[in-house]
Formats: sequence, C-alpha cells, structure tokens
Amino acid sequence: MSPQPVDTRAQDTQPVDTRRVDAREKVTGAALYATDLHPDQLAHATLATATIGRGRIAELDVSAAAAVPGVLLVLSHLDHLDLQSPGFVMGGGYGVQSLQPLLDDRIAYRGQAIALVVAETLTAATEAANLVRARYETEPFAATLDSPGVERIAQPTAIPLPFLADIDVGDAESAYAAAPLHVDATYDQPAQHQNPMELIGATVWWRGDTLVVHEGTQSAGAIRHGLAQQLGIDAANVEVVSPYTGGGFGQKNSLQIHIAPLAVAARRLGRPVQLVVSRAQLFHHTSFRPASRHRIRLGADEHGRMVAAIHEVEHQTSRHDLFPLMYNEITARLYGIRDFRGRQTFARMDTQTPGFMRAPFEHPAAFAFESAVDELAYAANRDPLEFRLANDTTVDPVSGEPFSSRHLAQCLRRGAKTFGWSARRQRPASMRAEDGSLVGWGVAVGAYPASIVPATSHVVAGADGRVRVEVDGHEMGQGIRSTIALLVADDLGIDVRHVDIVVGDTRVATQHLTAGSWGTASALGAVHAALRELRKQLGADVGGPVDVSAAVRAASRDTVEARAATLGPGQTEQDAERARQGHPVIAGPEFPGYSTFSWIAHFVEVRVEPTTCRIRVPRVVSVADCGRVASPVTAASQVRGGIVWGIGASLREAGEVDPRYGGFLNASLEEYPVPVNADIGTLDVDFIGEPDLRFHPVGVKGLGEVSMVGVAAAVANAVFHATGVRHRRLPIRIEDVLAGATA
Ligand code: MOS
Repeated sequence: MSPQPVDTRAQDTQPVDTRRVDAREKVTGAALYATDLHPDQLAHATLATATIGRGRIAELDVSAAAAVPGVLLVLSHLDHLDLQSPGFVMGGGYGVQSLQPLLDDRIAYRGQAIALVVAETLTAATEAANLVRARYETEPFAATLDSPGVERIAQPTAIPLPFLADIDVGDAESAYAAAPLHVDATYDQPAQHQNPMELIGATVWWRGDTLVVHEGTQSAGAIRHGLAQQLGIDAANVEVVSPYTGGGFGQKNSLQIHIAPLAVAARRLGRPVQLVVSRAQLFHHTSFRPASRHRIRLGADEHGRMVAAIHEVEHQTSRHDLFPLMYNEITARLYGIRDFRGRQTFARMDTQTPGFMRAPFEHPAAFAFESAVDELAYAANRDPLEFRLANDTTVDPVSGEPFSSRHLAQCLRRGAKTFGWSARRQRPASMRAEDGSLVGWGVAVGAYPASIVPATSHVVAGADGRVRVEVDGHEMGQGIRSTIALLVADDLGIDVRHVDIVVGDTRVATQHLTAGSWGTASALGAVHAALRELRKQLGADVGGPVDVSAAVRAASRDTVEARAATLGPGQTEQDAERARQGHPVIAGPEFPGYSTFSWIAHFVEVRVEPTTCRIRVPRVVSVADCGRVASPVTAASQVRGGIVWGIGASLREAGEVDPRYGGFLNASLEEYPVPVNADIGTLDVDFIGEPDLRFHPVGVKGLGEVSMVGVAAAVANAVFHATGVRHRRLPIRIEDVLAGATA
C-alpha cells in the first residue's frame, strides 16, 4: 500500500463549515488518524513493561509469549536492535527522552518498556505481552519531590544557557525586606498527564529503503530526523505523515520511544506494523507535567503597590534528562514589579523524562503567583481586581522595553463587567446562594510568551481557481487549517472552500515542531509571505481581491506557484538550517526593541456545598488578548478547552505516586479524573481582538496555552472567597475543604 496524502479538499457540493474547514471530515470519520490506517498485511504490536522502580533485568523469558499462536516477533534488549539514542529534544536531540528502551538491561523507571510483541492480531499481541516474564535486580529509587535520593541542582549550574538563566532584576531581597506588607507562601502542583482522545501510536512500513511513518504528532520534522539518527539512515529516506493529530498538548511534541523499534520490526517482518499505546501505558510511556513546588515572596508598599517578588521553584526531572524550568518568564512580567528574583532548581529522580504539557510552566507558575497576589491584596485590604489594575505595566520589567501589545487591563475591565464583579463582597464566606451554598468569586490573570519559528510554505494557484497551500504546521484539534484558509480567503478575496491545505507532512514542508502557541503566527507568517510572492507571479496588485482562475489562465499555465521561507525576528540562516534538521528554533518573547506576550483574565464563580464541601464551578468569564483573532470559532473553542482543563487541574487531576513502588498508580481515566460535561457550567469567552502588527505581519499572537493560564488560581481564589480558607496545593479536593471547614 502506498497511501496518498489525506484529501481534505471540500467539494463545492458538500456542506462545509466555512468557519471550521475540516470539521466535516472530523465528525464524519473521513479524517483518518495515524492508527486508523489498515494497510494490507498489517501486524499489531503491544508493549510489555517493567514492574520495578529502578534496577536491571536479570533474566528475561519471552518463550511463552513467542509461543502464543499468531505471534510473529518479540523484540527486547536480547535482540540487539542496533538503534542509537534519539537524544532529548531539550538537549539538542529529537526524543521525548534520551533513553531508548529495549537496548540494554537497565530499568530507569517503573513502566519502562521491556519488550515489543508483534502478532497477527492485537488480541494475540496483548496476550503474549502479558506472558513476557522478567526477573529483576532492584535498586533504591526516588519518585516524589520528598523522596530521599532526589538530587537537586540549580538550573544555571546544570545548563548555563542565557534563556535558562535566573531572572534577577534590581534587588528583590532588600526590597522585600523593606516592604511593609508581605506574603511568603509555598504552593504545590502535582504531576499531571495529558490524556488526548487520540492515543499515542503509529503505523509504520518500509517502501524499499524508505521508511514511512504515520503518527499523530506535533513535530513530523523531529520524527523524520530523529529516526534517521536512530536507524543510521538518510533523512531523505524517512517520510512522516500526520495530517491530523487527535490532541497534542505537548505530549506529542517529539519522537516517541516506540517508533524506532516499530521500524525495526517492520523491516524484520517485511510488513507494516501498528502500535496503539494503551491508555494505562500512556502514563509511563511518554512525558507528563512534572510535579513542582513554588515558594513565592511578595512585598507591597502601604499604597498597595507591589515592590518585590521572589519566585523560587523546583520541579522533577528524570535522572537521564534535564527538562528545563521556565516558570519565571511570565511571573516576572505579570505586573510592574521593579525588583524581581527567580530561582529554578531541578529535582532529579527515577521517572521517565517529564515534558511540556499545555502551558507547561505558565499554568503552575500562575497558580502560585496569582494565589500569592490574591493573598497580598487581602493583606492590603484591597479588592483583588482593583489591586491587579493598580499594578499594571506597559513596559516589560525584565528587558525595560515596551510590550508590543498588552491589553490586560482591558481584559480585566471587560471581564469584570460581564461577570458582574461590582456586586462582590470583599469579606470571605460572606456570599451565599439560595440553596445555602457558599459562593466565592475569584479573579486571576495569565500570560504566555509569543514566539515565532522558521516556517516554509508553498502556494499553488490553479486555473480552476483553487489555491493549494503546503506549509509547516500540525493540526492537533486547534484548527490550524481554519486559520490558514480564512487568511488566504480574506487576502485573495476567494471562497474559503477553494483553499486546500496540507500540513504535518514532511514531503511538502520542513514541519518544524508546532507547540508553544507559535503555530498560528509561524504558519500564517509564511503563508502571508508566499501570498505576496504569488500576487507578483499572478501579476496582481499587492492587495485587494484576485480573480485567481483568470490570472492563472492569463499566464497560459495550469498553475502558478510561489514559495516562502520565513524566520522569526532576529533569526538567521543558521537557525533555518537547524530547523531543516528537525530541531526546534524559537524566537521570542524578547525581540529587538520589544517583548510580546498574550494575556488573559479569568473570573470564576464557585459554589461550595456546606455539608459535603463539594465544589462546583457554575460559571467562568475569560477575556483574552491574543492579537488579531485568526479563526473566531476555533479560537473560542480553544479558550473553552483551556478553561475546562484549568478546572480539571484545580479540582481533579493528579498523578498519584506511591513512593514505595514508583510510577503512577492511577493510570486510567477512572482513577485519573478529568472534568466531564456535568462539571462545567457557563463559559463566557471574549477577545480584545486588537491586531499586534509590531509582532506579526497579520497581527496574530498565540492563544492555545494562555487560555488555561490563571484558571487554577482564579478557582483557588474563589474557593478562598467562598470559605475563608486558602488552599495552596492542587488539586483542591473535598477532603481539603472539609479539613478547612472543621479546623
Ligand atoms: Mo505545547 S505544551 O508547547 O505543545
């Protein structure tokens, strides 16, 4: 089988949602995800995993597994897979971690893969994987921030790179000591796990010497080059196709550990091989949001002006990789605080390497910092909204340069009006609902750095009037096709249904990592540039509507095409070359002469049932400043998703670790609860919609991640307002509120 790129073209006769251009394909099942493919001769793989926290495999017996009818192959470290490490994506490599399982007898963490079983059917593979027998020699291990054996290293010592340096502005210690009002508190954030609807998985085969990989990913480019490195082959012989990803959230942002072993299996069997990682195994198979602990010290003067902030944070990382900390980046910019000090520390322990999970640093950082700001507002006896407005800034306190745009005060004012904040009573536990529930209203703000990465695009105008766009970018549910289609339709004055878009495919573009909320800005920048060139090729004006069909025919051609390769401000050809090698190359949020962030304000109502202390969230109002809103329908959905996740993060989600065993105990959606529809009330989402043309040619900033930043703090602040008890550890559970009520 040699599959064609998924055809996402909407025919004029089909009903097309012109606001969400690939919605029809998604809801009808026409959109094929990586493991929806069933090529002839497909074999099915599963994983057997380690049941110890650390140690080595003393003896591995796969004979019972191999004897299961239908089993084709069992691969383990005994089979000499001849694979190189992919390297860790944040250490110059391509992988979710540098450790490639199945290469030796070492077990670095509970749940590590020890064998890959391939069979004619998934049933046979699963049965066989359960029959893989290992005898281990165990070693002591550490699995939580409080476990003995955790190794702590200051980040600047471990990785002396400028973008990971501690932020130190002014003299925060002295300013804090001299301030008349203080908060000094520690906030805890547990490990959490992305649970996208699309499980991690791949369909892999060889076409001659060419390896073909279908995997839902945010970085087809990293998979391509990482596999070339692992297998010792030329990247020209690796094709990665990922037209749809069923939720990325950072979990799918680099090369996963199963793909290279699948490639080996496919080569040895001469057949396509598919693996779908089970929901239970997913908790140990790939990255997760690391547990973190934040000590925040804030000082204010007698007028309620914040004058000093010290944000010290540690988070867990693996023994084999250093997943960097960037929590201070936003906390130093939320307010006009002159003296700021950040300290970031690794806590190395025996786990798989954690990584980026939606607003990876910003969500936990904002929970801690915005809780502390609320505590300080109460210490100053000021309304938390008014306190925040009084500490606004137009200048980046770190760089001293202006923000290219910051409409945070507008977000706060508009949100407050919609929410009805002026009816709030300041005193905690002073508002009640008709049914006797305690009512709490909380506010918090969020920020997320704006970045741009190198991108390539190729646009082809046809004599039929259609425009095909091939560009760096991945569709993971956020609606990148809609942002591109709407831009092209708006620019050329054509019907959105006449735009065909190919993303996530290494055969047509570099496919730089789509993450960090830079996807829209980067793809739209490249498409915008290619459209400028296309207009020249078509002999069209620099602006205004274009009769594409007439212009192409006037050129006596079937098609007219144009290409563009764009870089972030300040990036060089060297950066472009690194991007072509599949590495992330990120510009921002500090640019020459300005800094750029997206901003958001959240207003949350909670109701606490007084007997059971059950917390409900009947309504949330969020107002975002993401520059121009490139795709209004998908943008609003993104924010609603971010709010829901923020509610989950504050009231539900935690990876539970038993320090005696390691790993995560609650590896299922039954025991790792996420919000369901019944948990979610009214979500009112609004945008400022002011284009940021200093940052971007069409004025867009990022949105995906800022949407959840600050939600957890707004929930926690609302719970404080409802009950008078401050909760500094997430998630806030019924037992915590009960303990507070009876204390
Ligand atoms: Mo996002 S956590 O940067 O994919």
